[in-house]
Amino acid sequence: MADYTSCRNLLVSKTREEEEENEITFQRYKEIVSNLPKEESTAFEKFICNYQGFWYADVHCQGVLAVQEHFKAHSTDIIIASNPKSGTTWIKALIFATVTRGKFPMDNHPLLFETPHILAPFLEITLYNNRIPDLEILPSPRFFGTHISYTSLPQSMIDSGCPIVYICRNPKDVFVSMWHFKNKMRDRASKPPIDAMEAFERFCQGVSHFGPFWDSVLGYWKASLERPQHVLFLKYEELQADPVVHLKRIAQFVGCPFTSEEEKEEGLVDEILRLCSFEKLSNLEVNKTGKVAGSSLGHEAFFRKGQVGDWKNYLTSEMIERLDQITEEKFHGYGLKL
Ligand code: A3P
Repeated sequence: MADYTSCRNLLVSKTREEEEENEITFQRYKEIVSNLPKEESTAFEKFICNYQGFWYADVHCQGVLAVQEHFKAHSTDIIIASNPKSGTTWIKALIFATVTRGKFPMDNHPLLFETPHILAPFLEITLYNNRIPDLEILPSPRFFGTHISYTSLPQSMIDSGCPIVYICRNPKDVFVSMWHFKNKMRDRASKPPIDAMEAFERFCQGVSHFGPFWDSVLGYWKASLERPQHVLFLKYEELQADPVVHLKRIAQFVGCPFTSEEEKEEGLVDEILRLCSFEKLSNLEVNKTGKVAGSSLGHEAFFRKGQVGDWKNYLTSEMIERLDQITEEKFHGYGLKL
């Protein structure tokens, strides 16, 4: 019977025919991607390409094309969207634990043995990575992560009306977190760290993976104002400051609000927050030693400090001023502050 780890079975091709079919499909995507505008920089390994106004690594861009063409949303799906390094891992865990509460005992919970990135796998990065997976085998509700911009989401996702939860974070912390993350990947490949000034310049120009950062945030912000029933906009900092309030908001939004018994007598909100806390998740064996499916990168790369404001330890006053100014300008008139 399918369970929430069944996603792992989707990450391997079953038959030679299936493999050949995938190869043919992706050959077409590769051709499309090879004709897109590109930017090269040491800040993103080889190059990134621009598709529908956003920057992607070539393999992710092929994934976006495949998702747009093949993903069939169910109204019961739950989509967790973000720009990378905004707290996606945390929110995936929180949503999974909230929606499936009652299905698993807390002392034998899937989150204790499996990474949130398998329980709520990324569409364009993990599932549609050189293959068209049969997502119908996954148990309902299905949980998916994505970094695709709102404007490029597959039409079926919008039409289905399934809930989309977007998490954003202050760009100064996003930049610092991303810089560390990429260096961890480079370290594995025995490469020197990325030049921080080059990476910073590119980030400010909007040329970053799944960026421009500000356009990603604004797209979901506007959607949350236009379709509040379908798009919930969260801030990492607010979640850190008042997790109880925001977890209850999330539960309400995805259609499974906590009852007062669950909240008060059973202490479920606190229990879920404890299970999904940085301290708990980052110390689990699966997250300390497990590897990202199909990669040599460890799950531990998704857990660094989990704090608000670590940028103070890394950015110069010029860098702070520049990022603040860009954020101010980009969000001016939209009623959004980060
Ligand atoms: P830092 O690098 O600042 O520590 P993403 O999941 O989108 O890749 O984001 C990763 C960031 O979220 C990292 O930030 C990571 O430490 C932090 N994070 C991961 N799990 C968390 C949790 N349970 N609670 C709070 N922050 C968490």
